[in-house]
Amino acid sequence: MNKTIIASMLVALVSITVCTIAAEQKAAPAPPPAKDANFTLAPLPYSQDALAPHYSVETMSYHYGKHHSGYVDNLNKLVVGTKWADETSLEKIVKESYGKDDATAIFNNAAQVYNHDMFWKSMKPNGGGEPTGALLEKINASFGSYEKFKTEFTTAATSQFGSGWAWLVQDGDALKIVKTSNADTPIARDLVPLITCDVWEHAYYIDYRNARKSFVETFLDKLVNWDFAASQLK
Ligand SMILES: [Fe+2]
Repeated sequence: MNKTIIASMLVALVSITVCTIAAEQKAAPAPPPAKDANFTLAPLPYSQDALAPHYSVETMSYHYGKHHSGYVDNLNKLVVGTKWADETSLEKIVKESYGKDDATAIFNNAAQVYNHDMFWKSMKPNGGGEPTGALLEKINASFGSYEKFKTEFTTAATSQFGSGWAWLVQDGDALKIVKTSNADTPIARDLVPLITCDVWEHAYYIDYRNARKSFVETFLDKLVNWDFAASQLK
């Protein structure tokens, strides 16, 4: 085999290799275009130290900055490629994914974003104590007295086995107390939440350790935002 034939064969081999690489590069799927996230972490309605000493900056920074933020990040990743890819209504995703076996992770994270948004609004600096006006009238009508409401709410919050939430909700004209497990949320059952207390351990363990009852009593006596609850009444 002379040098001319060998050189021709090498040129042909290089050409085939270059063409193959080019074809593979052309066939590779293009990365999806950058897309704004559907959901962002809602700002707190007060500064992170505003609820101290009843709710410390350390608890707030972990609870809001790690847990709540994590649910938002997870949700944004999970909706990619689903029918909710462009959905911006959190409540719509919660209601549509509720009870769907193939959307459990989406429900859990969407509901936890909603529940935490509600929890932060359910508290305020110098909150707590007895409500007034129409809300107090409804509480008296539904529970007999504010003290009876407190007892029932505290019992619900402390008897929720494991992680979950205690809620004051409106159901038609009546107010009710419900407790929900893990990410479960009253809006999935068309109840109107007025306030909620997060009783996952991450909500209180740094400040109250295992004393969940003490946290719930402080929530009602020092933190609860009845102005927000009244604004939710239908
Ligand atoms: Fe939480």
